[in-house]
Amino acid sequence: MKTTLSFANLAGIETELLAVLAADTQTSKASDAKPEPVLLTTDEAVKAAAAALLASGEYKAGANETALLHGPAGLGAKRLLIVGLGKQAKATVHGVRNAAGTAVRFTKPRGIRELVLALPELEAISGPGSVRAAVEGALVGDFDPDTYRSDRKDQSVQSFTLAATGNSDQDALQAAFAEGMIVGESQDFTRSLVNEPGNKLTPTILGHRAAEMAAEVGLKVEVHSTEKLHELKMGAFWSVAQGSEEPPALIVLRYEPEGVVDGPVLGLVGKGITFDTGGISIKPSDNMEKMKYDMAGGAAMLGAMRAIALLKPKVRVIGVVCAAENMPDGKAYKPGDVETAMSGKTIEIINTDAEGRLVLADGLSYAKQLGATHLIDAATLTGACVVALGSANAGVFSNDDESYAKFDAALATSGEKFWRLPLGEEYAEQIKSDIGDIKNTGGRWGGASTAAEFLKVFAEDTPWIHLDIAGMAWVEEAKPYIAKGPSGVAVRSILEWVRSY
Ligand code: BES
Ligand code: MN
Ligand code: ZN
Repeated sequence: MKTTLSFANLAGIETELLAVLAADTQTSKASDAKPEPVLLTTDEAVKAAAAALLASGEYKAGANETALLHGPAGLGAKRLLIVGLGKQAKATVHGVRNAAGTAVRFTKPRGIRELVLALPELEAISGPGSVRAAVEGALVGDFDPDTYRSDRKDQSVQSFTLAATGNSDQDALQAAFAEGMIVGESQDFTRSLVNEPGNKLTPTILGHRAAEMAAEVGLKVEVHSTEKLHELKMGAFWSVAQGSEEPPALIVLRYEPEGVVDGPVLGLVGKGITFDTGGISIKPSDNMEKMKYDMAGGAAMLGAMRAIALLKPKVRVIGVVCAAENMPDGKAYKPGDVETAMSGKTIEIINTDAEGRLVLADGLSYAKQLGATHLIDAATLTGACVVALGSANAGVFSNDDESYAKFDAALATSGEKFWRLPLGEEYAEQIKSDIGDIKNTGGRWGGASTAAEFLKVFAEDTPWIHLDIAGMAWVEEAKPYIAKGPSGVAVRSILEWVRSY
């Protein structure tokens, strides 16, 4: 998709399709209050073209509600698409992000290759933040997961133009536009990895993809395997990897901006289980195919590292992705086994399906050994988190209120929804082992919190944030602005958290 920022007059733009946002200005809460939709543009010709539709009462400007007009009078565009933002008083740049995605996803299947989106002319949502969000939304909307379909038609929108008509601060908008491109492409990079099936994306191949990306954007990269795991005494990571014919990959990326020699070092640690069968504690067959996305946390870290390398914040960052396949096998680890993690802690295995925390345990220790002063991890860690929060929020845990506050602030820019869940002594109690230091499951209740407590043991006293994205990494039902499939959740929030240092 070729993307451009334009400052041309809307009415004069010659294009296949011009999309303009609309909002509902009705403020009364009375049940019989009718929507009062308005176009968020000052262009009189565009307003005139849509006047009859808006007056008809048929179109309410609900969030992502669309209406298409052919041959709009007085415009250079062949079609005029109206995309709703919902209530004007509640309009946000996150609504603009989604509306841009909706415009792209409306355009794509109709074989229309050219789209111009008008930036909304509404004080609260018209600045650089809106430009960035619109570009992100357009790129995210353009992604479809049908990589291996023989009849895959490349229906991508070939040319996407954002029209920021009437804006004076063109340099700031150009910068925001470039930033949105980097962020949107990085999120889509993550999604393309998450979408790959287990046979096409083994730990080794994930390592190759990471190295390729690192070379492109100028990150230092090392991809290790079995030998290094033994050398580092990563008994927890190896216990998961040992049951697969596919060797594990320990992917290490380093972002070291010039001139930054002190200050914090941020450690980004991702769960990269390229397929999770559950191992000897094997999962039921129903929906097991979904477990190809059990590397979404690792892929989110790779996407975030990509964006970091291109946006160049002044802080050092280390990315560690622990990639392995969780398989049942003659050599697989078993319930009852006791493993010694890199940190020296002994872990009693209760359930081989609680493998994510094991690979992360050693990943967190290693990030600390490499110098990380602050840690963040992302993982599709627990079904319990999905039960608690559904697909509306991801879970976030932290042992440090200051780090958490920074993450919470990052959410205002990213627009992603995370809900803080508790850690606590009671949960720590649930994972005490009779034979060793801790066990890898804490019983039926509070599963997201006991898993987080497990990780906390390995973060030790380093400030640490844990993101449980199990319920958010895969979009189960297509939305107007995003396809069914991998979401790329957490890339934007991790990036903004890093930039806050
Ligand atoms: N990868 C799964 C968690 C998961 C569940 C991700 C649903 C995405 C959607 C994880 O490895 C797992 O199997 N967790 C177990 C832990 C249990 C055995 C303590 C779970 O949540 O059931
Ligand atoms: Mn599992
Ligand atoms: Zn898993």
